[in-house]
This record gives sequence, structure tokens and C-alpha cells, in this order.
Amino acid sequence: MIKSIRAAQRLDSRGNPTVQVDLTTDKGTFRAIVPSGASTGTNEAVELRDKDPAVYGGRGVRTAVSNVETVIAPALIASGLKVDTDQKQIDDFLVRLDGSKGKGRLGANAILGVSMACARAGAAHSGIPLYEFLRRESQAKEPYIMPVPFFNVLNGGVHSGNTMAFQEMMIAPVGASSLTEAVQMGSEVYQHLKKVIVSKFGASATGIGDEGGFAPPISQPHEALDLLVQAVAEAGYIGKVKFAMDPASSEFYRDGVYDLGFKDKNRPNVHTPKQLMEVYHSLLEKYPIILLEDPFAETDWASWTEFQTSCPVELVGDDLLVTNTEYVQKAEDKKACNGLLLKINQIGTVSEAIQAANLAYSFDWSVFVSHRSGETTDDFIADLVVGLRTGHLKAGAPCRGERVAKYNRLMDIEADLLARGVGCAYAGEGFRRAHQV
Ligand code: PGA
Ligand code: ZN
Repeated sequence: MIKSIRAAQRLDSRGNPTVQVDLTTDKGTFRAIVPSGASTGTNEAVELRDKDPAVYGGRGVRTAVSNVETVIAPALIASGLKVDTDQKQIDDFLVRLDGSKGKGRLGANAILGVSMACARAGAAHSGIPLYEFLRRESQAKEPYIMPVPFFNVLNGGVHSGNTMAFQEMMIAPVGASSLTEAVQMGSEVYQHLKKVIVSKFGASATGIGDEGGFAPPISQPHEALDLLVQAVAEAGYIGKVKFAMDPASSEFYRDGVYDLGFKDKNRPNVHTPKQLMEVYHSLLEKYPIILLEDPFAETDWASWTEFQTSCPVELVGDDLLVTNTEYVQKAEDKKACNGLLLKINQIGTVSEAIQAANLAYSFDWSVFVSHRSGETTDDFIADLVVGLRTGHLKAGAPCRGERVAKYNRLMDIEADLLARGVGCAYAGEGFRRAHQV
């Protein structure tokens, strides 16, 4: 079935090397390119880097590429596993072949590239689109639910050069009637936001961060949210476009406190967990925020649990959970959150990511599919969010090729479903419970 597996070192959206896999069967060649994070969780699966400072500043992935071609390819081809029926067995096989806890022997970047390419080949061999293949793998039912796209339109944290501690300020067009209309709304608000920024800070302030959002010279979260309020109003979408935040707070947590001034060494702005909790509550009261991700650090479990009891919106764990069933279970036991951020490269195989999503669903949580800050034009996660019926995803701003690749693929899927007469609805306000429809 699998004839060959080739890999190569290619660039991601930050210009750093990443792993590309080309898997060939008698039906063609199927490609996957692996993304890479910057504000990574400590417990993520291990991304293998060459660490040779003379080459790509140590970020080369030649070893991972070589592991695909010299270790994974011969073993997987010899296994005789079939791409159309055996995705789960293939992923189990890859995990066993690596044999280490965090996939650091062969590299999660090597393993994931093969796992994704197998899924693409599996869909082709089954004669179905990738989203349908992934739906079958996850045993999700129909109808398909098109997700609310959460566009990260203001970038801070380690994704930009401004002094805003909070990493992501997102807009979510929950009031759209379709995914395609939601993309239009997101794009229009984004263009209005650009005008608002020009009028307040001048044209030189419209540079963008890693995920395509603007990064104007602001530092406080309320300044960012005020810009969003104005842009939404000027676009004419008050009440239809709501907000979400990912402070990515592990990045500014040191010695039990949070320093919101961490990007400007001359201006520390230290908050105790209690004080930070008050900041969140006052922002939630004042602005139409519908989702909060990583408000507390990955080690600060007590604050998560305390906040959960009074948090009125979806509370998503990213660094806290690292798409790993072990931490999803721990968070359920501690009642730390009620949403799973799903990043396939945090765990390293497609099947394990699906398993994490299904465990989260079993706890009545929501699942929020995510790109990484270092991306490629690979649009796999667009099919994943539709197949898993998670009802929402974040893939950056409606800008930059590697971000719009996902939104464009989602519009293709929506058009495809309509053309085929297959039922599909837009998740809209019900995004948290889309999987229950
Ligand atoms: P990362 O950021 O890809 O740099 O980890 C995304 C996020 O924190 O959600
Ligand atoms: Zn995050």
C-alpha cells in the first residue's frame, strides 16, 4: 500500500526549518508539513531540533528528516498497515517505534508528519474528503458543523515586538449565518481595525505579529479591547462579533506571580494570582468576551481551579493540557477548566489528538482546534475541526498565507458540503456544544 515515504527540511512562517513528509501510494503522493509553537507548554511532545548552532541557529531538523526516511519509512512499509483502514494502528505503531515518553527519540515532528500524511492518503484511498475520514476516525456523528473562526487580530506576548503581555486578542463572528459570512465579517473588522490603528498611532504601527494580527504600541489588555470595540462598531457588527483572549500566561509567570510588564524590563507590572483574577473579572464584565485561554500558568493549578468556579465563559487549557489525555484527566479531576485546546503537534499523532478530544467531550467540555504560531500552508486543521465537529477553531488573523490557507479551506469545505447536498450548519452562538448537535 505505502510505496515510499520521503521527508525534507522546509521553512515555516517564521522562516525556521520544519519537517515536510511526502507519502506515496498507488493513488498518488500525499504531503504534510508540520507546524511549530513559540509559547510552548513544558509537557508538549518533543520537537527534535539538531542544535547545531552553525546551521539555522540550531533549529535545523535534519535528524528528524533522516528519522522519517531511515527509521520510520522502512518499518511502516514493512508493517503492511493500510492507510484507509488502519490510521489508529499506524499511529500506535509510530508511538511504539519511538518508544520514549515524549516522542523525543524519533521526534514528534517526524512522527506527526507521517501520521498526517497517512490520514491524507487514507482519505484518498477511501474515496472521501479528509474531513469525512477524520469524522469516521473520531466516530463523530453527522451533520457537519462549520466552526466559528476565532481570528487573532491583535498580537502580543512572545508573538510580537510590542509591550502587550497578553499574547492573543481574538474576534469571533458568532452572529454570522455561515462560515463564509463569518470570514467576511472577520476580514472586514480586521480592515477597520487597521484604519483605527492608523488614526491612533500612525501608519507605521500597522506591522503584524507572527499570527497576522496587528501589534500596535499598546501594553494594557483594555487598550487592545477598546480598539476591537471600535473596529467592530465601525464595521457595523456590534453584537455579532465577540471577543476571546489568550494571555498565554505561562510566559510571564515567575515565582508565584504574573508580571504583565515582562516585555519591558524597565516597567515591571506584577500581579498576584488573585489580582490577575480580578483583572479578568473586570474585563469579562466590561467587554463581550466569550472565551478565555491559559489565563493562569501551566503549573498554577490552584488558580485555575479557583477561577473555574466563577468564570462565566469557556475556560480553555492550552499549555495546561498539551492535547494529552493524562492532563485532560488531571484537569477534570481538579475541575481546572472546561475546554481543551487541540494542537496535533503537542501530542504528535492524529489518533492521539482525536483521543484527547473525545475524552474532553466525555467530560462535557468544549474542544477548540488550534494552529501554531509557526505555521505552514498545510491546511489539515481545517478538515480536523469539521471532522471532529468542535464548533470553533483559531487559525490566526484573516491575513498571511499560512493563516488564510485554513480559512480558505474551510470555505471550500462549506461550499463542497452544500454542493453535495450534505447537511451542514454554522455553529454560531452554540459553538461550545457543536459536537452535541
Ligand atoms: P504557540 O502559540 O503556537 O506559539 O504555542 C499559540 C497559543 O499559545 O495558543
Ligand atoms: Zn495558547
